[in-house]
Amino acid sequence: MEPIPLNAPAYVRNRKLLQWVKETAELCLPDSVYWCDGSQEEYDRLCGEMVNSGTFIRLSEQKRPNSYLCRSDPSDVARVEDRTFICSIRKQDAGPTNNWVAPREMKSTLKKLFSGCMKGRTMYVIPFSMGPLGSHISHIGVEISDSPYVVTNMRIMTRMGRAAMELLGEESDFVPCLHSVGAPLEPGQQDVPWPCNDTKYIVHFPEERSIVSFGSGYGGNALLGKKCFALRIASSMARDEGWLAEHMLILGVESPEGEKDYVAAAFPSACGKTNFAMMIPPTEMEGWKITTIGDDIAWIKPGKDGRLHAINPEYGFFGVAPGTSVKSNPNAMATLYANCIFTNVALTPDGDVWWEDMTKEAPPSLIDWQGKPWTPDCGRPAAHPNARFTSPASQCPSIDPGWENPEGVPISAFIFGGRRGDTIPLVYQSANWYYGVYLAATMGSEKTAAAAGKIGDVRRDPFAMLPFCGYHMGDYFNHWLQMGRTLSEPPRIFGVNWFRKDENGKFLWPGFGDNMRVLKWIIGRVHGRSAAVESPLGWMPKYESLDWRGLEDFTFEQFTKLMSVDREAWKQELFSHEELLEKLYDKLPKEFNHIRELMLSTLWMSPEHWALAPERYSEQ
Ligand code: OXD
Ligand code: MN
Repeated sequence: MEPIPLNAPAYVRNRKLLQWVKETAELCLPDSVYWCDGSQEEYDRLCGEMVNSGTFIRLSEQKRPNSYLCRSDPSDVARVEDRTFICSIRKQDAGPTNNWVAPREMKSTLKKLFSGCMKGRTMYVIPFSMGPLGSHISHIGVEISDSPYVVTNMRIMTRMGRAAMELLGEESDFVPCLHSVGAPLEPGQQDVPWPCNDTKYIVHFPEERSIVSFGSGYGGNALLGKKCFALRIASSMARDEGWLAEHMLILGVESPEGEKDYVAAAFPSACGKTNFAMMIPPTEMEGWKITTIGDDIAWIKPGKDGRLHAINPEYGFFGVAPGTSVKSNPNAMATLYANCIFTNVALTPDGDVWWEDMTKEAPPSLIDWQGKPWTPDCGRPAAHPNARFTSPASQCPSIDPGWENPEGVPISAFIFGGRRGDTIPLVYQSANWYYGVYLAATMGSEKTAAAAGKIGDVRRDPFAMLPFCGYHMGDYFNHWLQMGRTLSEPPRIFGVNWFRKDENGKFLWPGFGDNMRVLKWIIGRVHGRSAAVESPLGWMPKYESLDWRGLEDFTFEQFTKLMSVDREAWKQELFSHEELLEKLYDKLPKEFNHIRELMLSTLWMSPEHWALAPERYSEQ
């Protein structure tokens, strides 16, 4: 058989890359090889081709300029955690929270699946930088994919194209990311709008620092720079090299006096990270301003100044569309004005998009995410609950002027939170780094309708990294403890819970922009300004130490409910940490047992409902 011509442009000089592309073409047998340069012309051309093939629908040029709607196969709508593997050489390095298969066995399985898997398709070579081009915190990856949907999304989500390729030179290393939708075409066979395969594998080889993904075209399964590289592989690189790759948003907080701080915050998926990252403070808190660096991932390195410095390795937002509205997140809605790809949302008769809760009233008729006519009373959602927008971060009105600073931004505080209807107070500051790491390691979130299990059950999600840590969680906790030991100015660590409910199941806290009140207290703590009282969990605000301007009718009684630390509930909470910690027993930091014991004894010494004792709030 004729060898497939590689046609590499002259600027592609990296030997390892040229060899890998050659071997992959010989294995996958595409019709042709295409080297992506990342230009606007290339993007427009590929989008045009997908419009012609039925994969994309061009949206109204008036309503949503240069934007497209894409509908996936109904079987391919989300990340597949049960098909995600960490194939380290030794099983104990992947740990009990990851699926593991021996690398040799996995490679043999994948080789069979990839043989001829790109027949009838183009093989795209997609060079990209995670992080600003040339930053010492950034890293280069190259994705090979047979999906033009992946190419166009990667151009929005990463710094993709010729400049990234040129940085590779002849010898520099990169993370190879191989992806196929797993749907070869026989000669003359008609393609479908969303090719995919029922067999799916999302595989990581941490020692080799490589990724292989088969069978899915959707989101984190296919845009390999995101969860696969920037979290799973990068977390393992970071452990080896003394930095952190985290599932965190990064935001800037500016005070009326012009003082600027940055915080990084980890919340499990579906807890409103994007909303928090783009929050607009209440107008009454005049002069306070929030700016956005990133909404999902942070790469964080110690600087010479003894502080941690963070970049957002991504270039765009891949956000959940349903629930996003002018009310919940005006900055996100403004970001979506043009140049976006929408996946699995509904189409309006005038060529725009719609999803649940975008507007108070649903439009009278739509085409739903599966291409079927839809009316408000039809009993089906118009958009899939995991429908997504892919949008350029640069279009966000709150984007921070320093979001592309190659040095990153200094982090003043880490915030950890989950969705908890009870037990966890609105905000508390851990007594020190060790307690903070324990707090983050044991954070949890209630299962929502989208996750398996009983609604309301708490799923422990350490550091919001459970599906994203590329090595043993116990080693990961030890790495965090070690980072704290080496920093002269470690960020302060806080726990938050926006989702606590009263006895009638009503949320106690308004959330959204009002979270600025909590953030202001946090920044004040960092600078030694905000008053706090000691609690069994750490430090907590007094009622009068939060800024209530614009929310004056939020009473002291409501606040004490929100902050209450119930001794019995907390004992149960601490006991329930055991299930996770026992699983990680062989590598668990010994500090964790001591911290748990100390917290238990502190609770025993406290009043039954600690924060309900009003004298706790008197000035000291
Ligand atoms: C995401 C997730 O898509 O965390 O960001 O699931
Ligand atoms: Mn995420």
